[in-house]
Amino acid sequence: MSANLSSNADHPVSATFDKRQLRNVLGSFVTGVTVVTTRDAEGKLHGLTANSFSSVSLDPPLVLWSQATSAGSHPAFRDAERFTINILAENQYGLANHFATRSPDKFSGVEHDLGVDGLPLLRDCSAWLECKVVSRFPGGDHVIFVGSVENIRQSGSRPLVFGGGQYLVADPHDLGRAPLGTAGAMLSQPHAVRLASRSMLRLSSTLDKTLALVAWGNHGPTVIAWQAATTPVAADLPLGLVLPVTSSASGLALAAFLPPEAIERFVTAELRDNEHRAHDELPVTVESLAKILESVRSSHIATRRPGPFYGDRVLANAISVPILTPNGTAVLALTATGPADQFDAAPDGPCAEALKAAANEISAALRAA
Ligand SMILES: Cc1cc2nc3c(=O)[nH]c(=O)nc-3n(C[C@H](O)[C@H](O)[C@H](O)COP(=O)(O)O)c2cc1C
Repeated sequence: MSANLSSNADHPVSATFDKRQLRNVLGSFVTGVTVVTTRDAEGKLHGLTANSFSSVSLDPPLVLWSQATSAGSHPAFRDAERFTINILAENQYGLANHFATRSPDKFSGVEHDLGVDGLPLLRDCSAWLECKVVSRFPGGDHVIFVGSVENIRQSGSRPLVFGGGQYLVADPHDLGRAPLGTAGAMLSQPHAVRLASRSMLRLSSTLDKTLALVAWGNHGPTVIAWQAATTPVAADLPLGLVLPVTSSASGLALAAFLPPEAIERFVTAELRDNEHRAHDELPVTVESLAKILESVRSSHIATRRPGPFYGDRVLANAISVPILTPNGTAVLALTATGPADQFDAAPDGPCAEALKAAANEISAALRAA
C-alpha cells in the first residue's frame, strides 16, 4: 500500500504507510510527558501537554520541543521569548489530560508558581527547565523550538511516562522477570510481596533486626524492600542491591527452591570468581553448595557466615527463609540481618523460628488464594 503523506506539492512524500501506522510506530518510542508553558505580551498564561521535548546539548545547555501550528496556543509560543518545561510526575496524568485539551483558561484551579518573567511553573512536577528561545525551525505541520536552559529544578518525584498511546510508570528493568523455568509460578509474587511487607513491619519491631525482602531479578537475588531495625545493619539500605547466590543467606534460601536452570549461570560465575580470590576460609565448591542447598531444602532456613555487609567493614550475620508458591518454587526470601556481634543468626534460635513461621504463613496464604 502506498500513500501520499504530504499535500504540499513542493515536498511530495511517497510512503509505504499511512498516518495511523506512522503514529503507531512513533508511539513505540517511549517518552516522558511535559507541560510547556509561557506568558504572552498581555500577561495571559498558556500551556500544552507535549512529549516532543528532548535534550539537544549539554554545553551549551539546549533543549527542544515542537508544537503543531494548529494548536490554539501556537501564536503565543511563536511570539514568546521564553518557555518553561514542566516534566510531569508519575501521578500527574490528570494534569497531562487537562493541558492536552483546549480551554480558554487552562490555569484556573491549577496550582502553580511564577518563575522568570512570570512564566508558570506547575506545582509537584518531577523537574522544571526555564528556557530562553534561541531558534525556531519549521518542521512540517510543527514548529521546532530550541531553548537555552537558564534554570533547572528537580523534586525527586518519579516521572510520568508515555508510550503506545498510554500513560505508563517507569520501573527498573532488572526486577520482576520470572526466573528461567518458573513460567506461571511467579503469578503469585505481587500477592506474596503484599503479605510479606506486612510481616516485615511486625517482625522488625518484635525482633529488632533489619529485615529484607529479596526477589530473583535478572541479576540474581535482589533486595526489593527493607525494614530497618533500631540499629540498622548499615547506614544506607539500597533497594535493588544484588546479593551473591552462593554466599548470602537470601541467595541460598531462593536458590534451594528454584529450578537448576534459573540459578546455574550465577552459580557458575560465582564459583569461578571464588577460585581467583584469596580465602581465609574454605571456598564454596559445586559439592559443598549441593550439600548446603540440600540442608536448606530440609530445614527451610539459610544462614550465612559472618561477612562484610554491602562492602562495609561491619561484619553482618543473616538468616533467610523462602516464601514458596503452591508448587514449591521460591517466590521471595524473607531475611533478617544484623551486626555479627549482636546477632548470632543461629538456625534454631528464636529469630529463625519467627521468620520461618511468618514465611510458612505467607506460603499457606498463597496456596489458599
Ligand atoms: C501525551 C501527549 C503529548 C503531546 N505532545 C504534543 C507535542 O509535543 N506537541 C504538540 O503540539 N502537541 C502535543 N500534544 C497535543 C496537545 O497537548 C494538544 O493538542 C493541546 O490541546 C494543545 O493545546 P492548545 O490547543 O490549547 O494550544 C500532546 C498530547 C498528549 C496527550
